[in-house]
Amino acid sequence: MSSIGENGADFLVVANRLPVDLERMPDGTERWKHSPGGLVSALEPFLRTHSGAWIGWPGVADAEVDAFEEGGLQLHPVRLSADEVQDYYEGFSNGTLWPLYHDVVAPPAFHRHWWNAYTRVNQRFADATAKVAAQGATVWVQDYQLQLVPAMLREQRPDLKIGFFLHIPFPPVELFMQLPWRTEIIRGLLGADLVGFHRPGGAQNFLWLARRLVGLEPSRGAVGVRTRPGVVQVGDRTVRVGAFPISIDSAGLDALARRKDVQARAKQLREDLGNPKKILLGVDRLDYTKGIDVRLKALHELLEDGRIDPEDVAMVQLATPSRERVEHYKTMRGDIEQIVGRINGEFARVGRPVVHYLHQSVNREELAAFMSAADVMVVTPVRDGMNLVCKEYVATRYDLGGALVLSEFAGAASELTSAYLVNPHDLDGVKNALESALTIDPAEGRRRMRALRRQVLTHDVDRWARSFLEALGTQTAI
Ligand code: ADP
Ligand code: F6P
Repeated sequence: MSSIGENGADFLVVANRLPVDLERMPDGTERWKHSPGGLVSALEPFLRTHSGAWIGWPGVADAEVDAFEEGGLQLHPVRLSADEVQDYYEGFSNGTLWPLYHDVVAPPAFHRHWWNAYTRVNQRFADATAKVAAQGATVWVQDYQLQLVPAMLREQRPDLKIGFFLHIPFPPVELFMQLPWRTEIIRGLLGADLVGFHRPGGAQNFLWLARRLVGLEPSRGAVGVRTRPGVVQVGDRTVRVGAFPISIDSAGLDALARRKDVQARAKQLREDLGNPKKILLGVDRLDYTKGIDVRLKALHELLEDGRIDPEDVAMVQLATPSRERVEHYKTMRGDIEQIVGRINGEFARVGRPVVHYLHQSVNREELAAFMSAADVMVVTPVRDGMNLVCKEYVATRYDLGGALVLSEFAGAASELTSAYLVNPHDLDGVKNALESALTIDPAEGRRRMRALRRQVLTHDVDRWARSFLEALGTQTAI
């Protein structure tokens, strides 16, 4: 795709995290591991086949790491101090923006010292990028942690082509307007040539705010999916604003799930779970937006109502540890672990828990095996920009088995319309959907899964990246 020569890289991704995280072991040694979250899951396979540079934080405070190459990617670590991790990452990114952009499902906190740290760290990312980018390079800035970078980078390097993509929902304007630094954020994003969202609604909200907060005259037509981007004139520059629903390496996961060792592992997992008639599966970062409590409450009530026999069903919940020092995350972890304990306390017998809760990350092979073994995948976020887990489940079900229960409030719901769509605030609705998915007629199940797979296999991450980069005007780079 591109080359990294003496004059710098001509294609760069800038994201809060590098695709690998530095882990400090108790004995003082260090090792690199795969970074958590959908951004890395989606972008990494794309970039592995298109060389370039990636600028990001190595995941621990005060890490002094030089640039290094990994799997064809040039990784440029950006150092954050312990205070900056607290104020920029845990504070403004995940204590202010994350809840604000997810419908205020938890109250956002507004602190001026968090904002100051956010500004300072965004400037550091912009400076690091400006140093590494070749003349006329394409720079793709990612996500809510770096919304000021496009304008800061343009200020130093007007020669660059700058794209920005938001991986989480862009909120309704009434909520966005709560932010004391709302105008600065919109101005920051307007430094890009193309601003991308998952859904047309996000793009439309942004265009409205560009008019209201910056006094610009954006186009008024409806934004389409991958087509008809909105347009705003900023001085002599034209900024495009579009919708580009992200996806996964669908063919890669399909192939992984077909592997004999993965299928053998799936069989083993079923046995380890006691060969129940049905297995339910949840896979998430342990985040309060994911509605893990919703699915557990629904399961609990179904057991209490006698609509599910605990002898017939096992539920596995894989939960990657996430943002563990942020207050809402601590409270939510306690709540979830209490419900798990309650369900098992009331309905398990010795050697046979109903809910298997693993506060752990598993590797791709193990994930594909869990998904292959699961009869029902339960994805119930109260708000999610896209949600990749549901697409991953569909990609692994080459056998057309399994059923997907999916929240209407995940971006993926508008693409995966053959799932059992639920409103996560309607517990009776979630219970009914779980029961329907558990008792689905096999022919109906295959019909639904075939339709889901048609969507996921034809709309993969490669298509997402190409559609974005083409709209940015970087045909030469891809
Ligand atoms: P988010 O970006 O908010 O974390 P997504 O659903 O878009 O949510 O992406 C989550 C990614 O992390 C997926 O690729 C999913 O497979 C992976 N993941 C989540 N939990 C686990 C886990 N416990 N073990 C391994 N991978 C996980
Ligand atoms: O996809 C949303 C996202 O917040 C990414 O930006 C992020 O890398 C990922 O989830 C995981 O979160 P964190 O980096 O805070 O662990």
